[in-house]
Amino acid sequence: MISEKLTEMIRTIPKGENHIHIEGSIPGETAVKLAKRNKIELPFSSEEEMKKYIKKNVTSLDSFMASDRLINSVCINEEDFYEVILELGKRAKEQNIIYTEFLLDYPLNQVRNIPLKTVINGYEAGRQEAMKKYGIDITFIAGIDRSLSAEDSYQFIKSLEPYLGIITGIGMDCEERGNPCIEHKRAYELAEDMGLYLSAHAGEDPNAGDQAVQNIWDAVERMHCKRIEHGVLSVNDRKLMNLLAEKEILLTICPLSNTMIVYPDLSQHPLKRLMDQGIPCSINSDDPPYVGDLIENMIQTADALELTEEDIFDMERNSLKYSICGQQHLPVLEDWIHDWKENN
Ligand code: ADE
Ligand code: ZN
Repeated sequence: MISEKLTEMIRTIPKGENHIHIEGSIPGETAVKLAKRNKIELPFSSEEEMKKYIKKNVTSLDSFMASDRLINSVCINEEDFYEVILELGKRAKEQNIIYTEFLLDYPLNQVRNIPLKTVINGYEAGRQEAMKKYGIDITFIAGIDRSLSAEDSYQFIKSLEPYLGIITGIGMDCEERGNPCIEHKRAYELAEDMGLYLSAHAGEDPNAGDQAVQNIWDAVERMHCKRIEHGVLSVNDRKLMNLLAEKEILLTICPLSNTMIVYPDLSQHPLKRLMDQGIPCSINSDDPPYVGDLIENMIQTADALELTEEDIFDMERNSLKYSICGQQHLPVLEDWIHDWKENN
């Protein structure tokens, strides 16, 4: 068990979060409420039952995605998307998150014929209200669904043109197995021309075989990604770890999400080994209803990997320093760390 002091530090430190999916983070209560309102049938009717459903059905990235698509289907109208963001803003505030980057996986809504405008208008209204009500600084990363075609993702990036003030980066997620990053290179070239920050999920799913590590190489060297979501499988490739350290590529690590997909035993997680190689890492929740919120991820990981206060300080600094647009919050964090050290 970690000390009470470290637990208190983790709870109170001002935090950045770089990797959390809106669609995968719809809280159980909200999902059930929206399902009723929109007359969508779900295989559960309470938060408790949703937890049981997840426990029984989610055992891999592919089964996670099936559940993610199902639960997200409760969102139909602009007000639904608005309410989800406001609820996530409230939960961020409760965890002392001051800056957060929300992945917006629009293609999960597009395949249900929900217009982009409906989703973005709802998310953006929620972002503004969360800023007013909870003081949270939120930015949006638009995620390509890598299981769709290269042409679909190119058209998706093109459709973001009117929203460039709202969306600041792009990512790529969903099923890694059978869907190499490089297939979406043209969409990334367009995003780069549009001035968007480039990131991608890569090196997450062991079921993708050698392709998982190749995805990290391709994302960094051929698609100019500045950061990699997860990237944990880079630990099997020393040359790749050297490249990530040299180029200061942030790995947005989601330890409890990784326990569902790749490292069932958290004590085997490579986070410390990656940090020891000089690779900047931040700690994140990915999809809280499945794996716990950011604080839960930090506490459990600190416990399993014997993280020190300095490890936590470093990762919080990374979450802002290597963020898309959260650098202005660094002084708040540094002042807090200074006070903590003086008083503890
Ligand atoms: N979408 C939501 N969570 C994801 C994950 N862990 N990997 C890929 N796509 C996702
Ligand atoms: Zn993710």
